[in-house]
Parts: sequence; C-alpha cells; structure tokens
Amino acid sequence: MSIKTIKYKNPGSSSITRFERIHTIIFDDKKNAEYLVAEEIIKLIKKNNKKNKTTVLGLATGSSPIGVYKNLIDFFKKDKVSFKNVVTFNLDEYYAISSDHKQSYSQFMDQNFFNHIDINRNNIYIPKGDVDKKNIDKYCKEYEKKIKSFGGIDIQILGIGANGHIGFNEPGSNLNSVTRLVKLDYQTRSDAKLDFNGIKNVPSSAITMGIKTILSSKRVILMAWGQGKSESIKKAVELRQNVKIPASLIQSHDNATFVLDKQSSALLTRISQPWQVGQLVLDNEMITRAVHWLSKKTEKPILRLTEKDYNQNNLSDLLVDKSHYDLNLSVFNKLQRTITGWPGGKPKSDDTHRPERKNPSKKRVIIFSPHPDDDVVSMGGTFDRLVSQGHDVHVAYQTSGNIAVSNEEVLKFVELYEDFFDKSSNFIDELKSLLSDQKKIIKDSRVRKLASLIREKESLAATRFIGLSDSNVHFLGLPFYETGKIKKNKPGSKDLKIMCDLIKSIKPHQIFAAGDLADPHGTHKVCIELLFDSLKNLKKLEFMNDCWVWLYRGAWHEWDTHEIDMAVPLSPEQVLKKRRAIFYHQSQNNSVMFQGDDEREFWQRVEQRNREIAITYNQLGMADYQAMETFRRYYF
Ligand code: F6R
Repeated sequence: MSIKTIKYKNPGSSSITRFERIHTIIFDDKKNAEYLVAEEIIKLIKKNNKKNKTTVLGLATGSSPIGVYKNLIDFFKKDKVSFKNVVTFNLDEYYAISSDHKQSYSQFMDQNFFNHIDINRNNIYIPKGDVDKKNIDKYCKEYEKKIKSFGGIDIQILGIGANGHIGFNEPGSNLNSVTRLVKLDYQTRSDAKLDFNGIKNVPSSAITMGIKTILSSKRVILMAWGQGKSESIKKAVELRQNVKIPASLIQSHDNATFVLDKQSSALLTRISQPWQVGQLVLDNEMITRAVHWLSKKTEKPILRLTEKDYNQNNLSDLLVDKSHYDLNLSVFNKLQRTITGWPGGKPKSDDTHRPERKNPSKKRVIIFSPHPDDDVVSMGGTFDRLVSQGHDVHVAYQTSGNIAVSNEEVLKFVELYEDFFDKSSNFIDELKSLLSDQKKIIKDSRVRKLASLIREKESLAATRFIGLSDSNVHFLGLPFYETGKIKKNKPGSKDLKIMCDLIKSIKPHQIFAAGDLADPHGTHKVCIELLFDSLKNLKKLEFMNDCWVWLYRGAWHEWDTHEIDMAVPLSPEQVLKKRRAIFYHQSQNNSVMFQGDDEREFWQRVEQRNREIAITYNQLGMADYQAMETFRRYYF
C-alpha cells in the first residue's frame, strides 16, 4: 500500500469513514507507517532529481517525525538517494534561543536528520530563535517570501500537539495566519518540560509558520502516535473545522492525509464504535462494548434495553443469533461477575464465575508500584482486603520517586536532624545551602538519597497502617530512574534483573501492576514494560503457570467498563481508610511537584474516579456501591 494511491478528496464518502472529514489511514504498526511516509517523500525527490528539479520539504520536530527521518537516512545510505537538490523549511523554533542552544530545533534537526545526509547547508531554513524583537515582523515576512521563491512547499510533514496545535499554531490561530511570533500554551510548555528539565525553563514564545503557510503546501501529511494524541485526533478528524483545534483546519486542504497508529486513532468512531459505520466484529469484547455503549447512550440499565434500542442504534446485527433478552442477560451477568469483595479469590466457594481462583486459599501476591504511593493511590482498598483476607502480600516500589520530593521537604528533615542532635557541621551547611533554592532540581547524590529515604519512610508508614510487615516491602530503586533529572535513562538489563530476581524469590500467584500508560512522565510506561519483559523471561518457570497478572489504573485514567475483569467495591469506611493511607505520603500531598495539569491532589482524583466508576456500574444496572477499584487481567 502507498499513502499516495489511497488519497481521495472526500473521506466521508466511504461508509467506514463517514464520520471523518480528513483522509485518514490507520496502521497497526507505526514502523510501517513511517516507512511509507518516507517512501512518498523519496519518490518525489527521485522524480525531481531526474529532472534536476528542486524538492521543497516542510519539516517538523518533536517525537512524531523521528522515524521518518531515520527511514530517509536509510534511503540516502542504502539507495544512494541524494538530497543535494532538496530545500527544507522547518515549521518553528523556540524564542528566544539561539541555534546552538541544546534544545533548539536547529540542533534537533542536525542530530536527527541533516548531519546524516548530503543536503547543502545553504538549503536549510529554520526560523531563527534569536532574531532581535524589533526585527521579527520583517524576518517572518522574509521567511514567507523565501518559501514562495522556491515555488512553495511540495510536502509538509506535521505532528499534532495534545491540544490540537500544528507547528506552534496554538488553539485560536486562524486560517489566515502566516509566519509570526506566538505565545506558547501552558499545555505545550508542560509537554516540553522533560526536554528542558522543568516547565520553568521552557521558553514561553516561538516563531512558527502560520496555518495559511502550512495549507499552501501542495501536500500535507500529519502523523500521530500513541494514546496521548487520541483526543486531539478525534476532534481534528471528526468535528467541524474550528480554530479551537488548529489541526481541524487541515480539513480544507484537498491533498492532506493523517497517518495514525492504533493508539492515536482509538477514539475515532470507526475504531471506538465500529457498529456506527457498519463494521461490527462479533467478538465477545466488542459485543460487551457495544451493549455497554448502548446502555450509556440510552441511559437505561442493560436489562431494560429493548429490541428497538438495538435497531435504532445500528446494533441489529447483535440480535441475529440471540434475542435482545438473552443478550441483555448475558452481558449483565458478565458485568456482575466482575464484582468481588475477594480479590485474592474466595476460599471454599464455587469459583466458576468469579474473577479469581479459590485455590490456593492463601496466595502469595506482589503489588508492583511504579512510584512509592501508586499502591495505595490506585488500589489501596484492594490492597487492604488482600492483607485482611490473609494473603502473603508483598509490595515492590519500582522507583525511588525521589525527584518528586520538594527541596523544602528535604530541608525540613535536614533542619530537624541538625536541631535535634545539635549537629551543625560543614556537611549540614552545604546541604542547607543546596536546598535553599526551592525551585531548582538538585542532582547532588546526598540530597537525592535523602529524598528517597523520605519516600521510603512514608511508604513504610502507609504499609504498616494497612497491616503489612516491613519485611514484605521491597524498595527496588530501579537504576533507569536515578538520573536526578526529570528525563530518565532507557531501562536496561540491570533493571530487568532486579524485577526478575524479586519475582523468582517470591513465586507469586498474583501480580498487580500499574497498566497506566497515560502517566505524563512515562515512568509508569517503563515500569509496566519492564514487568512484561520479566514475564516473558520467566514464563517457562513452573511457578509462573499459577501466576495471574492484574493491571490497575493509576491516578490519571480509568478502564472503560467493557475492559474490566475484576471490580472490587469499597464501603464508605474503606474509602476513608484508603484516603488515610494516601495521606501517609506527606511529601506528595499539598502541591505535588509533578502532577500533570490536573490541580487536584491524588487522593481527590482517585476518590472521584472510584466513585464515578461505581456510579457507572450502577447506571448499567448493578448494585449501588460507594466506590470501586477496577482491574483488567493480563494474559502472557
Ligand atoms: C514541532 C511542531 C509541533 C509538534 C507537536 C507534536 O516542530 O511544530 O507542532 O509537531 O507538538 O510533538 P511530538 O511529535 O513531540 O508529539
């Protein structure tokens, strides 16, 4: 398949894409997509090279185009495609930084692309981030003129911001905008904080090509990878064009394609509600999903859905082999059977329809917690039940979480030590002076050690409160995390070995882990991938045949009801107990350093979510519980 050959002007003309206003292609594997985008570019360069014609490319930075650049470099090296006749214009640059700043887009382009091909340096145009403010307007006009002088851009590649921006055209940018100086949104700056080691270092302005500049390109390809982009993609593709979602303005271009992977396309109607576009695949998960959706849409509990409800909502195919009555009942039963107050299995009872096995009645359990607090934040109620029901529960804190302890918190303990033991010394003075800047991220290993210890002690207070003995609490301190910066290292064999050694020593019947991939700093993602790799490594060991893995969702996200395999209800008292367990993590309460854009404290978010999922269960027709923690089984 080539992206170009399936270009068509009226995406909504096919029934599958009838909700879509932009030509959109979804790939199972982004590698394949990146290759095809690069191939389209290379074909044009080759064609133009033959005629000695210049190819003008519009380029983007960020994580989205990196794979395309890698493929282009491969084409250059293996197929000897020359870039001598290629002229490039970059979309944007931070302001005010110079092109030799480590985080400038100029450096990014050199490292990821230009240094590896034979492009003529004079043919590279990137907005200059250090133009004098009074000359900016003139400079921007010249940038526009320059693009026109080459006959315009042949292919413009784009990423999309979580807020729907393209280039740095933030929400509100209009169709007539051209290259200019803009202010960056809070969200955009927050998304860049890893690169700049904290949001306060992220520039607040940028120079960017405008929407008009982008839309003047002959061909536009926007790429989006990962779940974090799914909301902005849904809005850009399915809502009417509007300046609140700048990428939606691409709808007016007649040769644009959105190239997506499974995760970024997950909210498009054809994927999330395929029955609406005549694509109902009758597997069990899809049927459950469709019936839950119908119940939520009609605001009727599952058992009250009628044949007419199914017919009027494109779901009549579900009733081909089954009456609506039988279907309602089977989906209702399935949901009801996810509910259990016995997360470790109920001893001496029929477990045919229970989420967990009854045997062994006392299970060995590991709760993996990426940071020291996810255990209680995400599954405090279930944790408490497992302990009180007599299972041998272990908690493994995967990272030290030291980066999230504020300097003032560490200073408190240094001062306490100094005053109580009357121990002033040069060492203490040094620490105090390091900690006096409250905003600075301190790399000093002694400060980081103190921050780790603070989190360890808080965790022990919480696990003791739940009734766990200290010997069952494991602080893994995975090395990938220990950079002293927001940006972490890539995980390696040392991290994997620590995980595997623990699993081998405990031989668990149950593992609980954070299947929460939307954590804004990526630590949860790394931690779960390390667990998946450990499971792969240990799979052949006999004890693993008896090991079931349950994924919980952390503070940022909830499972959709059709994804849930186990739901543990919490009584009002248990909700309060869970809140108290969370409060032991004092360094994380009251203005957590890195909590994303949500201003609520962790306990508030999670309490609200546990309540909301109980309300949703109730609306689907289940009993009215105070709150619920939910899990999805992971098969390996
Ligand atoms: C970068 C740019 C931005 C990014 C967008 C997505 O030159 O103009 O619009 O394309 O912020 O960034 P990533 O790809 O890092 O998710």
